[in-house]
Amino acid sequence: MESLVAHVNFKSDNVIHEVEDGTPLIDFCDEVQVSLSFGCTEGTCGVCEVTVVEGRENVSRITEEEKDYLLPEDLEEGMRLGCQVKIRKGDVTLSWKKAKAK
Ligand code: FES
Repeated sequence: MESLVAHVNFKSDNVIHEVEDGTPLIDFCDEVQVSLSFGCTEGTCGVCEVTVVEGRENVSRITEEEKDYLLPEDLEEGMRLGCQVKIRKGDVTLSWKKAKAK
């Protein structure tokens, strides 16, 4: 059976990638070499903050970790923790702040 494919547009890097429905974002970010970075991978550091610009209905639901870490108004604007997000289906457009100075 052919698996369904979602399209993820990494807007900040101008990269579009196809993934199987249901794939966690963190699973393919390395592979596509986008500048979105991850730290703890558990929803507690905030390094992976990303905004779902389009297709919010096409990603997994907000987790408890995200509710704890992000402000309600940020969640309202589509901000998520990338390590917590799975791409469910269809088209999703993401943007994030590029490399912060260390
Ligand atoms: S990698 Fe730490 S919150 Fe996502």
